[in-house]
Amino acid sequence: MADRHAQLSFDGNEYDLPIVEPTIGNAGLTIAKLRADSGDVTYDPGFANTAGAQSTITYIDGAAGILQHRGYAIEDLAANATFLEVAYLLLVGKLPNKAEFEAWSEDVRMHTLLNEEMKRFFDAFPKRAHPMAILSSATNAISTFYEDYHDPSNAKAFDESAVRLLAKMPTIAAWAYKKSIGMPYSYPNNDLDYVENFLAMMFSLPTARYEVDPVIAKAVNVLFVLHADHEQNCSTATVRGVGSSQANLFASVGAGIDALWGPLHGGANQRVIEMLQSIVDDPDASAKSMIARAKDPNDPFRLMGFGHRVYKNYDPRARVLRSYADDVLAAVGIKDPLFDIAKELEQTALEDDYFVERKLFPNVDFYSGLIFRALDFPTRMFTVLFAMGRLPGWMAQWKEMTEDPSTRIMRPRQIYIGDIDKEYVPIEER
Ligand code: SDX
Repeated sequence: MADRHAQLSFDGNEYDLPIVEPTIGNAGLTIAKLRADSGDVTYDPGFANTAGAQSTITYIDGAAGILQHRGYAIEDLAANATFLEVAYLLLVGKLPNKAEFEAWSEDVRMHTLLNEEMKRFFDAFPKRAHPMAILSSATNAISTFYEDYHDPSNAKAFDESAVRLLAKMPTIAAWAYKKSIGMPYSYPNNDLDYVENFLAMMFSLPTARYEVDPVIAKAVNVLFVLHADHEQNCSTATVRGVGSSQANLFASVGAGIDALWGPLHGGANQRVIEMLQSIVDDPDASAKSMIARAKDPNDPFRLMGFGHRVYKNYDPRARVLRSYADDVLAAVGIKDPLFDIAKELEQTALEDDYFVERKLFPNVDFYSGLIFRALDFPTRMFTVLFAMGRLPGWMAQWKEMTEDPSTRIMRPRQIYIGDIDKEYVPIEER
């Protein structure tokens, strides 16, 4: 295909914008020279229409509700792959063969312990500390034990850091939970696989033998796979942005955890459960009243777990989770009234013009919390679970950013609309 170009006419001038061609999906109109040539910039709050990178990791078709990692459909990965297999796929770029997978699993398994000094770090937090605050702080704290691996230009340092983060995140998450309930920390057990180990560290006690329920282990694997990457979402863009200043991987991931915590992003899974619970707790509340509030322009309330910047169709992850929720709840023998309310809310919203016109469908957070809840995770741990799933995606995107020769430090411009050239007035005269 001959090189395509777009032409921009502005203020009597013509600007040539070369096109960056995709494998599939959006092409890119290159504006890299626009400010130098015109003295003006494009304006796109939230970068909803602006690509900051070329990537080979994840493809999303928001209109069709398609999600693929390295070309593999999320439905196939959720049904067939383990989370560690998907982490390898994202980080290395291909599915591992048996020998590669064994070596990868062993490498991760051998780094699950935290330095014993980290216990004092956990002890310093108040009991009610939100586990996302602990996760973010601990991610930076463990980096102080690995200062030799901070050089972003050193591929081996990246591999060492990535394995350590992947291996230690479950331990950090489980210790944050144990801290919050005043129970002793459980140590990793190398006889268990990645998810089993996490569940054991979360729910075992020194007083009794803990058997991992294979149904729960499978469900957590599926949930982690469904959260593994999602192209340039808010937290991934944050990880890339922090890494673009050549900050180390730990600092970049810590920043990604903080961005994910927001209720408009990964924090939504906790808010969905709180929203559904509020309907159960308040006799005057109902699915209909919630929908009415969500539609009211004067009410800041949003239907948590609904809507998406990219998906203008059903989020394929939510579709997997919706059907999976039935199976998990049946398997663990739970009838959760919140699940019935969620289905009623979904049905009501999908038939309401406000949601239909704005193409607002359930997203990954709408059903994930119901499954986490059925698996006995406390609500305040839900976004931590999202972060654990998203970790390999963040790291793969960070690696792609550092290896991309076109990467520059992230530094957006602005449209200034404030005062200029004001005279300073001494305080006595103000
Ligand atoms: C995740 O980007 C990713 O890939 C994220 C993620 C990932 O895997 O990384 O998929 C994970 O973050 C999923 C989203 C979780 N957040 C929520 O469920 C919070 C509720 N949803 C919204 O706040 C909202 O839908 C966003 C933040 C997800 C998307 O916001 P946008 O793209 O900026 O859309 P918008 O705010 O401009 O909304 C467009 C219109 C507005 O109405 P009008 O001004 O046109 O009248 O839709 C309305 C909004 O008011 N709207 C909603 C709504 N979401 C959008 N109205 C009620 N309830 C909602 N949930």
